[in-house]
Amino acid sequence: MKKITIAIDGYSSTGKSTVAKQIADYFDYVYVDSGAMYRAITLYALQNDFISENKFDKNPLINSLNNINLKFNKNSSTGKAEIFLNGINVEREIRTLRVSEFVSPIATLSEVRAKLVQQQQIMGNDKGIVMDGRDIGTVVFPEAELKLFMNANAEQRAKRRFNELIERGDSVSYEEILHNVIERDRIDTTRKDSPLIKAKDAIEIDNSEMNLEDQFQTILQLAKDRVAGRV
Ligand code: DC
Repeated sequence: MKKITIAIDGYSSTGKSTVAKQIADYFDYVYVDSGAMYRAITLYALQNDFISENKFDKNPLINSLNNINLKFNKNSSTGKAEIFLNGINVEREIRTLRVSEFVSPIATLSEVRAKLVQQQQIMGNDKGIVMDGRDIGTVVFPEAELKLFMNANAEQRAKRRFNELIERGDSVSYEEILHNVIERDRIDTTRKDSPLIKAKDAIEIDNSEMNLEDQFQTILQLAKDRVAGRV
């Protein structure tokens, strides 16, 4: 069967990764969470004190990029790909609010983007890939057979992210999550290099009022049509 490339972009916490994983599992494709890569670089900056007093110093980070090795490895018990930063599993640590607060400013740096986009394109060389992020349909895989652009209202998104963090035991408030979601959208859409925009040929999905099963079925049909060459 023909293998395709599926690019899923959209605002923060729109459930991109949930549906991306479902679709990748269905077709037995590789799933790549490109946001995890930007988050891992942010974690590295925090660990190395390139961020202090809520400011980050971009030059030491840019000069260290060659020392940062990122890899995804499958967790054998959950079957899910987890990200490793210089050989250490950081899948949990990259999801903290602290990382979320700095990841968008770090993702504005062209040097960071160039490094990650190159790795992402290599991962997609053989197609059979679902990647989610902000610039996947516009920059990483402009030739993707299926491009989606996900949206939902900010309050719904903050509520979902808040529930996820509370469930895993983090102590956060709904207000700070909402603020973070809105602020990240602002930075992601207004940065100079590869801002979050809907690709001309992307299909927009607003899932504010959609349940997970409806969303999965809608996107699955779009993917099946492309795999079968009907579109
Ligand atoms: O998908 P996420 O919320 O985990 O992504 C975290 C941040 O990383 C997001 O706010 C902006 C940045 N990002 C990006 O600039 N380009 C991507 N392809 C993916 C993420």
